[in-house]
Amino acid sequence: MKFFSDLADFSVAEIKELITLATRLNNKPEPRALEGKILSLLFLSPSLRTLISFQSAMARLGGGTFVVSPEMSIHGLESRSGIIMDGTAAEHIREAVPVIASYGDAIGIRAAAKSENLNDDLIDREFHELTSLIETPYINMESAINHPCQSLADWKTLDDLNITTNNKFVLSWTWHPHPLPFAVPAATLHMAALRGMDITVLRPEGYALPNSIMKKANHAASINGGSVTETDKLDVAMNDCNIIYASSWASADHYGNSSAEDEVRPALRQWCIDEHWFNKASDDCRFMHCLPVRRGVAVTDRILDGPRSVVIAEAKNRMLVQMALLHKMLSSS
Ligand code: CP
Repeated sequence: MKFFSDLADFSVAEIKELITLATRLNNKPEPRALEGKILSLLFLSPSLRTLISFQSAMARLGGGTFVVSPEMSIHGLESRSGIIMDGTAAEHIREAVPVIASYGDAIGIRAAAKSENLNDDLIDREFHELTSLIETPYINMESAINHPCQSLADWKTLDDLNITTNNKFVLSWTWHPHPLPFAVPAATLHMAALRGMDITVLRPEGYALPNSIMKKANHAASINGGSVTETDKLDVAMNDCNIIYASSWASADHYGNSSAEDEVRPALRQWCIDEHWFNKASDDCRFMHCLPVRRGVAVTDRILDGPRSVVIAEAKNRMLVQMALLHKMLSSS
């Protein structure tokens, strides 16, 4: 495997193989599988789970990691093309990224959305620019429009819960004080569609996901026997729901203009998931979220602390599926 950038690059059989490998490595550890191998981790945006789960995954397989982020005492990084570098940034990513990559056997890159230009983010322009600079195998640790490691972990979590294609999956918008990128909702929707699930996207008016995201999900659903519908009606979405996956995202209508979105967003504070949301859901309906989550904003304490929540299992699965990914990418066996 030369890169892991999008679940769409893999067949469902290949994804299932990775999940099986994750389970095998958990049950039967291979602490020397990646002895002598180094994974570089470039974080251009913040993280808790991704940073630590990759370090832990690599260590459990006998390999090593190093981390680079702008908060460390590295030179200021410039990313604009054709710029005269007479400002504060002393180093351009065109040199920095290939140098960082050259010190490892593979590189993980996190470059979350800049949330300035919708089209640039929808085509993942920055991530593609960064990966065009390197020759080592690479992993997308979250880009403007994708979070495939999270989706792989969520796939495993759904398997662990015995969720089948017949089960109903709701991807729900939740309130957040700031507009957030499309990476998690886009990746989650596509993952559930690849599983062939019946999916409802529940979101307020003005928060429909962009066409390219819906089109990709609809395509995956249609070839895998699932479906995707959208509604702004809680009762319709939650009827017989088995999984509710909460996420928040920006309004495409106001993308890059958070002050314009500030006019509409405060009126949506009631989009905070609480027990009454589950009135019409399946009794054992579970709550998923990629974390970090804002308590009392996106979801209440009683849901997060109660039996519906599987957020900690999702986070643990990040480490397990990434072990499988790294094993597949770097192991010689
Ligand atoms: N879910 C996730 O990617 O978490 P971090 O942003 O903490 O890495």
